Amino acid sequence: MTQVQSLFERIGGADAMPSLVEQFYGRVLKDPELKPFFADANMEKLKRMQVEFLSAALGGPVHYEGSPIRRAHSHLKISLANYQRFTQHLFAALADYKLSEQECYDVIFRLDVHANDIVTKGVDPVP
Ligand code: HEM
Repeated sequence: MTQVQSLFERIGGADAMPSLVEQFYGRVLKDPELKPFFADANMEKLKRMQVEFLSAALGGPVHYEGSPIRRAHSHLKISLANYQRFTQHLFAALADYKLSEQECYDVIFRLDVHANDIVTKGVDPVP
């Protein structure tokens, strides 16, 4: 019987996550719109926490032990547009992994459930 693999396993498991996160933040920090958010961040710790968070969110056998995600972001005043740009960089970073396009979207969907805890209401322009 074939076992359905988690997205965590499809990406390559614990061996692959640190380099995915490294590549991902490489893209984020090259983006002039997103870079300023990270000016005061401890990137070593942030990447370590993101490996944990992402691994757990994608079905890996990992427990996220960082700050609650809302508390980690509420002071940053992140707009929905900033959030979407951030996840687009993750989508782009996933192209180096053997995932189907649908699986790449599935990764983003798994994170989108947390968007309300990351985005600050009232920052985006009201149409
Ligand atoms: C899918 C979306 C996101 C996820 C899963 C995520 C995840 C995380 C995690 C796990 C941490 C570490 C918390 C800790 O230190 O314990 C963190 C911190 C941080 N995140 Fe995010 N994040 C997301 C979106 C964003 C966006 C869109 C921005 C900015 C545009 C951002 C900026 C930051 C910054 C600056 C920190 C460091 C805060 C500090 O050290 O005070 N994040 N994030």
